[in-house]
Amino acid sequence: MKQLAKRANIIKPSATVALTTRAKLLKKEGKDIIIMAAGEPDFDTPDYIKEYAIDAIQKGFTKYTPAEGTVELRMAIAEKLKRDNNLEYDWKDIVVSNGAKQAIANTLMVIIDEGDEVIIPSPYWVTYTSLVELVGGKPVIVKTKIENEFKLTPEELEKHITPKTKAIILNSPSNPTGSVYTLEELKALGEIIEKHDLFVISDEIYEKIIYDGYKHISIASISDKLKENTIIINGVSKSHAMTGWRVGFSASNSEIAKKIAALQSQLSHHTASISQKAAEIAFLKNDGSVEKMRKEFEKRRDKIVEMLSNIEGIKFNIPHGAFYVFPDVSYFYRKRYKNWYIKNSLDLSEFLLEKVGLAAVSGIAFGEDSCIRFSYATNIDNIIEGINRFKKALEMLL
Ligand SMILES: Cc1ncc(COP(=O)(O)O)c(C=O)c1O
Repeated sequence: MKQLAKRANIIKPSATVALTTRAKLLKKEGKDIIIMAAGEPDFDTPDYIKEYAIDAIQKGFTKYTPAEGTVELRMAIAEKLKRDNNLEYDWKDIVVSNGAKQAIANTLMVIIDEGDEVIIPSPYWVTYTSLVELVGGKPVIVKTKIENEFKLTPEELEKHITPKTKAIILNSPSNPTGSVYTLEELKALGEIIEKHDLFVISDEIYEKIIYDGYKHISIASISDKLKENTIIINGVSKSHAMTGWRVGFSASNSEIAKKIAALQSQLSHHTASISQKAAEIAFLKNDGSVEKMRKEFEKRRDKIVEMLSNIEGIKFNIPHGAFYVFPDVSYFYRKRYKNWYIKNSLDLSEFLLEKVGLAAVSGIAFGEDSCIRFSYATNIDNIIEGINRFKKALEMLL
């Protein structure tokens, strides 16, 4: 057999998916496992959305749609951007994709050339680095500090800009840290971004899952120049518990939107017609279920924060959004329990799974080896049991 393409070796399978799959398998085999690894809401898609989609099937809305998505859905998204983000987009500048993930991949393919540098604040969502590498770009990882709630400062950003820097990826609310950038913080970053004329890929998929009175701000809403340079990424996966429907979108300037649409027309054409109908009603109608889910996430966040606060040796930032908490567990590195020796986050994640039946993703998967990520997109009983197990495991190591 001839050699495979070089790009086939660039992509590594997602660590979060791998751990969740393994934990589910152990559970199936009868092991008592608490899974706090998944990156998806445990709620069901709201009924009004499902009903609208069923109706669309029955009416025969089962054919190809335009590659960019249906006009109705793109108009509904334009309305959403105006209503929620104070942003005026022509519906023609919105492209609907197979989840936010494809919207990010499309964007990178359209703006990044071989050797272009893309700034990615760390900790980061695993997919960013893989996709940048896949398109031939160079991820420039900028380490942030837990004392700054893992948020990038303008100084840290500017230090890493070179003549080759093309873009920066921002994610607020953040996976894995739960951090949320304020308007002031975005303005300060925006100044540097404008000065160096960088593209911004602004991943806003957790927009609706936000706490403590924080308000989600899109960096595109700060100035005309930033709007011109920003590609907004969003979708219904997390806000409406619609991960499996695969609907995301990009909103950008017209030139980028046209290129993304052309690319997608050759790559995947469009996401399922029925999913587009479902997303349309999700954006147009508000029956209170998004807020209900948000409130439930907030209760869980409160519980997990309260429990983690009673564990000695760890430190963490209070997550103000998304459904993850990312404690620094490095105090337990170089500790032993029987034949276990914990060197890093991978070892600790393995120890938790094997010794106490708890699945949590190692921080190294997000570029930060001192931490471990818990997802609290699971019911309160699981959270209580999971964090009790975490405490028990750490005590074994003391
Ligand atoms: C930060 C971030 N962006 C994008 C996505 C992908 O969203 P989608 O399921 O719409 O592709 C995820 C999913 O885990 C995520 O955590």
